[in-house]
Amino acid sequence: CGIVGVIGNAPAAPVLLEALRRLEYRGYDSAGIATLIDGHIDRRRAEGKLANLAAVLDRMPLPGVVGVGHTRWATHGAPTEGNAHPHGTSRVSVVHNGIIENHAELRSELEAEGQVFSTETDTETVAQLVDLHLARGMAPREAALTAFRRLEGAYALAMVFAGHPDLMIGAQHGAPLAIGYGEGEMFLGSDSLALSPLARRITYLRDGDWTVVSKTGAQIFDFDDRPVNREIKAVALAAGAIGKDGYRHYMEKELHEHPSVIGQTLRRMLDPATRQVVLPELPFDLATIPRITMTACGSAYYAGLVGRHWLESIARLPTDADVASELRYREPPLPEGGLGLLISQSGETADTLAALRGLHGAGQHVLSVLNVPESTMARESDAVLETVAGPEICVASTKAFTAQLCVLACLAIATGTARGTLGEERAGALTAALTDLPGRASELLTLREDIQAMAQVVAEARDVLYLGRGAAFPIALEGALKLKEISYIHAEAYAAGEMKHGPIALIDRTVPVVAIAPGGRLFEKTASNLQEAKARGARILAFTDADGAPKLLNIAEQIVVVPTVDPFVAPILHAIAVQMLAYEVALLKGTDVDQPRNLAKSVTVE
Ligand code: G6P
Repeated sequence: CGIVGVIGNAPAAPVLLEALRRLEYRGYDSAGIATLIDGHIDRRRAEGKLANLAAVLDRMPLPGVVGVGHTRWATHGAPTEGNAHPHGTSRVSVVHNGIIENHAELRSELEAEGQVFSTETDTETVAQLVDLHLARGMAPREAALTAFRRLEGAYALAMVFAGHPDLMIGAQHGAPLAIGYGEGEMFLGSDSLALSPLARRITYLRDGDWTVVSKTGAQIFDFDDRPVNREIKAVALAAGAIGKDGYRHYMEKELHEHPSVIGQTLRRMLDPATRQVVLPELPFDLATIPRITMTACGSAYYAGLVGRHWLESIARLPTDADVASELRYREPPLPEGGLGLLISQSGETADTLAALRGLHGAGQHVLSVLNVPESTMARESDAVLETVAGPEICVASTKAFTAQLCVLACLAIATGTARGTLGEERAGALTAALTDLPGRASELLTLREDIQAMAQVVAEARDVLYLGRGAAFPIALEGALKLKEISYIHAEAYAAGEMKHGPIALIDRTVPVVAIAPGGRLFEKTASNLQEAKARGARILAFTDADGAPKLLNIAEQIVVVPTVDPFVAPILHAIAVQMLAYEVALLKGTDVDQPRNLAKSVTVE
């Protein structure tokens, strides 16, 4: 969920709406804003995307110069207008990101005190708690602090108070909140992305901080009410709104950006003259790291699985990979001086952030592969390797995923070199294969018609099985995820050799099998598994290269011949190919490609 607050002299609603646009990546189930009008709180809310809220505001404008806004990814309570933030009473209006874990307990306590709730949301308990203290005569500042001390769970909060036009209060506990300093106006926001067009200077709160904001400044305290000092940082002004450049969807545009994104990302790490990987200086030694613990969510996790493959095979370094929501509670024994490796496009995903903090707490160095250099994870990492993918608007990741693979490939080469497991000649061949990638990606993008033909078969299916082996297995996982996300067709990925241990029972003519089968060491093995599927009536759709294609002619109904490259980088090209397939299927299904139902670009709650 995304939070914003403004206090100034200009109308608040348009500013809040614009900031919410920049926060829509955190959820688009519903949105709302509340302002103070003549000292009274009023609000407008709408189910669904921000455009709906904008339409409501057109019909029923909301004046006022102080207010809070929210865009929601539903946790407690359906994504209805009634459950949309801000929540509150006649005295206070609250926006919240996170989960109040003791909300049920607080609710019964408050109801016993006579507070009357109008929603099922955990957020309303915060508003009711503050309201009760206000009703009993506390000033807003005391009422808010007394409430914060009762809250358990993770939260970022912003609130405004009836009768207090020069006051906004915010708090951070487990979910990020920043203060933005404008000219005669002040802001609160859940990240610098929301604030940077408005404020040139930003203070990031730390967990356990809360802030009292007026038009002219902000004071920060801890929950013991001691003033704390936090740095004010200058931030670059964010670029304006990003267009589709004539493409039908952001996803299509972002797919076409692949050649340039791969090139830019690699240029940060590859010296063209020496053909060597040169990483930014790291505060630890790759040569002596005993183990890597990798973690991420969604597509970023699948990038990590490919990276694990490379790190193990090239650098011979023990590497574990797990989704962040599991790792954070798994308590794995971690060696002293080990490396935690985080992967995230946004740098804001709540589970990944929690895992980062857990890894730090366990004495690991923390290195993050991130696309947003101003993000919370960037600030909390010991070092960052940047994917230079530019803003990725489509919820389903494309170019950022591919850029993550490029960074991980370079990290594997650098680690292999540092550890002496990768000879100079092979390292040169690997970097040459990487350098060649932008051109090969451009070639791949011309294969649209072949992929469209494959999409016709997939679009008719209710279930699809994706198969791959080795580093192509995570690409099968990513292909299946992408298809689910944007076409709503059920898809499962299996390690090709594992199919015979279960999913083969599903196979018949109605369940197409999509094979990720680049040439190389494991090609023949995958091909045998495809034979097994074909023998049971499956329709085989294969991504392979010029080496594999002739051998699949009798097995596959359709073949997309991905440009032939060193097997080391083949997963990167095949990743683009499966993304293209998902896109074409989504077009046939007529879904909301860029903002699929129920998803968020970055999930900032646990
Ligand atoms: C959400 C998105 C996924 C994304 C994941 C991780 O679930 O829908 O596409 O891969 O978050 O996001 P991150 O920003 O951490 O890479």
